[in-house]
Amino acid sequence: MIDYKDIKRAANLVTHSIGPADIAVILGSGLGGYEEQLIDPAEIDYGEIPGFPTSTVSGHAGKFIAGTLKGKRVLVMSGRFHSYEGYGMGKVTLPVRVMRLMGVKTLIVTNAAGAVNMDFKPGDLMLIEDYINLSGRNPLRGKNLDRFGPRFPDMTYAYDRELRKIAQEEAEKLNIDLKHGIYCWMNGPTFETPAEIRMARTLGADAVGMSTVPETIVARHSGIRVLGISSITNMAAGVLDQPINHEEVLAAGEMVKEPFRQLVNAIIGRLPDEEIVEM
Ligand code: HPA
Repeated sequence: MIDYKDIKRAANLVTHSIGPADIAVILGSGLGGYEEQLIDPAEIDYGEIPGFPTSTVSGHAGKFIAGTLKGKRVLVMSGRFHSYEGYGMGKVTLPVRVMRLMGVKTLIVTNAAGAVNMDFKPGDLMLIEDYINLSGRNPLRGKNLDRFGPRFPDMTYAYDRELRKIAQEEAEKLNIDLKHGIYCWMNGPTFETPAEIRMARTLGADAVGMSTVPETIVARHSGIRVLGISSITNMAAGVLDQPINHEEVLAAGEMVKEPFRQLVNAIIGRLPDEEIVEM
């Protein structure tokens, strides 16, 4: 069980070494490199942060990079932790708690996802309207951390309405055909079966993936506003008569990197200049 003191210790160390931030961006699979445009970047490897997992399946533990973008303090999370790697929910969401204590008020969370909605295609970007949690897990299970938020947090507006409106407006200006939909969280690491995808479609899902929802829940718990964007990398299992593999997921991520970068930059440009408030 991770308590406030552990989170505060990690946050102090990270803030001391790379500075505070107002806005955070979590990069999904295939979307790496977004951090390269930060001005005056400073970074810290997860391995140097107390309490952070030291290695992941891929061998790249990842890092936090902080810098300035559009005149704002932005923290980029390159590499995230997934429950399929064997980490408990506390570890998976520790970076979001740390962000909160670093001053983050707005989180842009991104991922690679499979299209359940047949009108989508690989290379699309989808604005997450809401989520369905089919993982059977919840990162807030256990003793509530009252300093972050309430025992029973509201999820009516998990993805902030104002931020979604801004995202849609900016997508239109950039001529990006931004799709909208419901993201369904599955545990992985197996891709889904065609039967599971049919079930997800019946339940109202438009895309499936193995991340994002735990971070969204923990961010909302502590009052961080969340915007979610999925990079649609493949048609979900059974839509096409062919298997799914991780390589195609990464390759499709490459395809959307530039529109993704432009869209996220434009959204960040519209966010208010905020003051860092100590927690
Ligand atoms: N299923 C689950 N996660 C994913 C997929 C998928 O089809 N594509 C990218 N991440």
